[in-house]
Amino acid sequence: MKIFIDTADIGEIREAWAMGAIDGVTTNPSLLSKAGKPIKKAIAEICEVVDGPISAEVLATDTAGILKEGRDLATIHPNVVVKVPLIPDGLKAVRQLTSEGIKTNVTLCFSPSQALLAAKAGATYISPFVGRLDDLSEDGMVLAQQIVTIYENYAFETQVLVASVRHPLHMVQAALMGAHVATIPFKVITQLIKHPMTDLGLARFLEDAKQIPKD
Ligand code: G3P
Repeated sequence: MKIFIDTADIGEIREAWAMGAIDGVTTNPSLLSKAGKPIKKAIAEICEVVDGPISAEVLATDTAGILKEGRDLATIHPNVVVKVPLIPDGLKAVRQLTSEGIKTNVTLCFSPSQALLAAKAGATYISPFVGRLDDLSEDGMVLAQQIVTIYENYAFETQVLVASVRHPLHMVQAALMGAHVATIPFKVITQLIKHPMTDLGLARFLEDAKQIPKD
């Protein structure tokens, strides 16, 4: 399974890339607003650090506007993936962008029927928002599993990108179900690495090493 980092913070992206933890980056308007830079500048900067798919979201909600913004974002770097909301005009734009060879990430997916239509439109990635469903007392990972099954049933090439990940268990469940990608915040990457037994074991080794005779 590929891991993307879900942030526009260039410091976090550099750190995760240096660890070899990530294969790509996803951003959204909320994350970019925190980065405090113009969208194209922020995305170009990320593309300089990470050699992998970088999702950049359009702000338009009509097909013509999405196409204009999507084509413009795609000029930033060949690794840019145009993130499009799962609305009728968005799907029309995805169909066209796909025919032009531009990769797309269909976002804000909350149902298997939406995911089926995104695949029919030719989306490169579908992003089910598992954490936001959990927030509503609905099991978001059930949606992810349904999409994986539907895509496997019909050999769709659209990749399932589990998004809105909130904790390490989401990641493990995504990997067990065979999702293609999980995009995770930096905090969850650090949680994935951390284990108290590792820290205790290392402290013991370093303490015992003081008793080793010097040369
Ligand atoms: O980038 C899309 C998604 O991962 C957002 O997550 O935590 O805002 O629900 P969250």
